[in-house]
Amino acid sequence: MRRIAFALLGSAALLSAFAATSAFGAEGVLPLATLPPPPIPADNPMTPEKVELGKKLFWDGRLSGNGSMGCVACHQPDLGWGTGGPISFGYPGTQHWRNSQTILNSAYYNKLFWEGSVTSLETQAPAAAGGAVAGNGDGSMMEVKLRFIPEYVTAFREVFGTDWPHIAQAWQAVAAFERTIVTDPAKVPFDRYLAGDQSALSDAAKRGMELYNGKAGCLSCHNGALASDERYYNLGVPAAPEFAQDPLYQITLRWELYQKGGPEDVYRSGADDLGLYHKTKRPQDKGKFRTASLRELRWSGPYMHNGIFETLGEVVDFYNAGGGSGNTALTPLGLSDNEKADLVAFLDALSMDEPLLMEAPDLPETATWAEFPK
Ligand code: HEC
Ligand code: HEC
Repeated sequence: MRRIAFALLGSAALLSAFAATSAFGAEGVLPLATLPPPPIPADNPMTPEKVELGKKLFWDGRLSGNGSMGCVACHQPDLGWGTGGPISFGYPGTQHWRNSQTILNSAYYNKLFWEGSVTSLETQAPAAAGGAVAGNGDGSMMEVKLRFIPEYVTAFREVFGTDWPHIAQAWQAVAAFERTIVTDPAKVPFDRYLAGDQSALSDAAKRGMELYNGKAGCLSCHNGALASDERYYNLGVPAAPEFAQDPLYQITLRWELYQKGGPEDVYRSGADDLGLYHKTKRPQDKGKFRTASLRELRWSGPYMHNGIFETLGEVVDFYNAGGGSGNTALTPLGLSDNEKADLVAFLDALSMDEPLLMEAPDLPETATWAEFPK
């Protein structure tokens, strides 16, 4: 059941009036708003040098098991900082089981991954670099590799003040870099509209905004500046067909249940990605996933935890039908074809006019034997 249906909100002025009087406060539902600069943790302050180091490490395959599965392999700038496909490929010889999330704006989430299983970018990075279906690297091995790259030794010394690179510092630098991969509000039609430029949204997008806040009920979960309440819901997103067809996908599915301690009967059935259940083991959490941000969708498709929907039109059809089978969160919306198109126009206006692209950095060489530090 959708928690709230709103009166139509027609203008930016109204939106900010609601924010000011916190009319939605009791339910924890905030209006959409422009993103502030991302929060910076006190124990990992940003410096330009740290961000530059983090960028190199993000690209550097040596922070993985086989030397070629750096973060950028699955978070490619020209593919919306994801892989551009439905379910991500995995570490060679394995298959991943979920859609590679964009890292655009991951700096704003308090819970990361589709099931929210880690709570900071600093702890997410080692999980990715070490995960058997992602980077599959050993932390101490990656640390020694860094210590034999003279340019990194110097850079780590300058940034962190230590003699040798420590692997935890590498994750701090990667996190600092990720905090720069964020939306620029000046490039987003919706944010320009909120800033007072009435012409920034087309008429269709303005009608779509009213539907978003009202009849279509999107705001009840996709709210606040990030357009995510960071809660978990079971929408009944259809299972990825690959799980029933491809043994490698099925093996990852069972392995996730196995190594996260799922009970044997669930492990034996291996039906579908159970989302939050993997973390909590509570039956009522089966099929629940973290509400995704709706910013930058133009660049980050396909959509949902398994990338089952190619287009935003398909997503809106799915919601209009009241979600998928087994869902415990949605009811049919009764939107006309025109209304569906208006809603898509509004979703489009939540993305930057241009994708955030970035050149690959030059990576430093590993030392020759003569240069090996003693
Ligand atoms: C083999 C592909 C692959 C590699 C390599 C990889 N990732 Fe990911 N990344 C994914 C997938 C798939 C997900 C979603 C996984 C899930 O929810 O279980 C993800 C999720 C994330 C998220 C969470 C975003 C959010 O919205 O919660 C961040 C941040 C991230 N990755 C950063 C990194 C970093 C940093 C590295 C390198 C240390 C890295 N990734 C390496 C595929 C990969
Ligand atoms: C009950 C809460 C809830 C409501 C209401 C809701 N969503 Fe979602 N939305 C979610 C959750 C949870 C996910 C992630 C689901 C998954 O991957 O299985 C999601 C995912 C999405 C995605 C995919 C984003 C991505 O990066 O893959 C889009 C697009 C989306 N929603 C649009 C909408 C629109 C448009 C509406 C209104 C018609 C809406 N949502 C209403 C909770 C909700």
